[in-house]
Amino acid sequence: MSATRRYSPLDRLLIEAQHALGTSLGQARAERPNPAGSLRDPALDVADRRHAAGLMRINHTGEVCAQALYVGQAAVARDEATRAQLLHAAQEETDHLAWCGDRLRELDSRPSLFNPLWYAGSYAIGLAAGLRGDGWNLGFVVETERQVEAHLDEHLGSLPAGDERSRAIIRTMKADEARHADHAEQAGARKLPQPIPRLMALSSQLMKLVAYRL
Ligand SMILES: [Fe+2]
Ligand SMILES: [Fe+2]
Repeated sequence: MSATRRYSPLDRLLIEAQHALGTSLGQARAERPNPAGSLRDPALDVADRRHAAGLMRINHTGEVCAQALYVGQAAVARDEATRAQLLHAAQEETDHLAWCGDRLRELDSRPSLFNPLWYAGSYAIGLAAGLRGDGWNLGFVVETERQVEAHLDEHLGSLPAGDERSRAIIRTMKADEARHADHAEQAGARKLPQPIPRLMALSSQLMKLVAYRL
């Protein structure tokens, strides 16, 4: 497995740069089938369509941020098991990213223009968290995933009534995020003190505000 291979600092930098570009600008490829499957695509009016696209754009950007956070954290994780866990979570987020991208296209919309910026900011936060040690690293995963779960719940309530395709994707994502949080908790996450959770909630509030439109 690649975990045993030794990468030079330059190798690592190039791998990270490639990941950053692929995640924030490229088209992700899912390993699992899209949970929307063959559910009917409802005929939404213009306003509902725009609203559903805004919510799915938020979710898409949220997944870009999650990947950047985990890859940043993994870059400085001290323990190999923690690094592997972070990279595995990042891999599952790729499915989420791909499914949200699919749904945006079905809604005749596109991802946020600012994804490279969100990626850079989240990567920096991931690095900072990772440098504080693995307990913090895992604590960040728990807090991120719990906050994402809460906002996915909001979206399930707010999506247009007939939009079962978006809902199916969000339900699967929500179950995955809960599992990511549980695993991190079991692996020894420490509880993050205030004001960190509050600051995380504030920055995701800002992201949601912008990504809903742009
Ligand atoms: Fe996710
Ligand atoms: Fe997750």
